[in-house]
Amino acid sequence: MTSLPVILDVDTGVDDALAILFAVAHPDINVLGISCVAGNASLERVVDNTLRILDVAGAGDIPVAAGARRPLIEPARDASHVHGEGGLGTLHLPATSRTPEPGSSIELMHRLITESPQPVTLVALAPQTNIALLLRQYPDDARNIERIVFMGGSASVGNATAVAEFNVWHDPEAAAIVLDSGVPTYMYGLDVFNRVGVDEDVANALLSHDTARGRAVGALLSNRVAVGGDTGSIYTGLIGDAGAVCALVDPGALHTELRPVRIQLSGYGRGQTLVDLRQWPGEDILHGVAEEWTTVEVALTIDAERTIETFLGTLGLA
Ligand code: BDR
Ligand code: CA
Repeated sequence: MTSLPVILDVDTGVDDALAILFAVAHPDINVLGISCVAGNASLERVVDNTLRILDVAGAGDIPVAAGARRPLIEPARDASHVHGEGGLGTLHLPATSRTPEPGSSIELMHRLITESPQPVTLVALAPQTNIALLLRQYPDDARNIERIVFMGGSASVGNATAVAEFNVWHDPEAAAIVLDSGVPTYMYGLDVFNRVGVDEDVANALLSHDTARGRAVGALLSNRVAVGGDTGSIYTGLIGDAGAVCALVDPGALHTELRPVRIQLSGYGRGQTLVDLRQWPGEDILHGVAEEWTTVEVALTIDAERTIETFLGTLGLA
């Protein structure tokens, strides 16, 4: 199998870091470049964290560029309560000697997409500000984009609010632009994101692994967050964004459905992904109270054990 040309868009971020380590390690994925955006942490921290993680991965030659430092409309609101002040939780890595590309990540993505002989898969693991800007500035790039796989949204519960998932909530207009761009989209939302994790003892054992990469994965997985009160240990062990990258190489581990999806842009529901799960959608259109929504491939369930095997096995940590 020829490897899949992929561009990652990240807000590194504990679980973005896991996703980068996995993507770089997998032989069927060719990471052409990494685009950074403000989200979990400030843009500067996201870029620096991404470069440091690439050093750990031994993949210093992958180009990294900085994109948007805030959403299209609202100010940036980080997730330091989840990812720590620096963005990598309890993982502290040596400073990097690398610098990001001189131009913006919009220009980097445009160049990589234009130059690629094969259509590129964009994997958005962060607020979709950069992807929306790319599609607005270079609409013809859509022709050489295979699809956009995004971690974001939910067909059930939210996290940033009761109904909205963080990445979509952080920049709902960007997510709406991406959804309506005509490029096929695949939604890896909280319905599956919240399911894939390792036990705490597995994460802790990796802390003393004999490779720097293994120890970094252990620190990232054993990161405890403050969400929901004292320990917030529900999030300990989640591979998070890395699950969306696992879905590229093992799609059979997920049950997906083609579903109409719409982004809520106002009120308390701002940032919510409305996923039409009705058996017979369309009656609202018939009644004249709705227009047709965009069809998205939505991941609804996942074989968590199989995905963990893919994740740890690829990284040589099984
Ligand atoms: C998403 O938001 C961030 O906190 C994570 O990195 C993930 O991309 C989950 O809602
Ligand atoms: Ca992320």
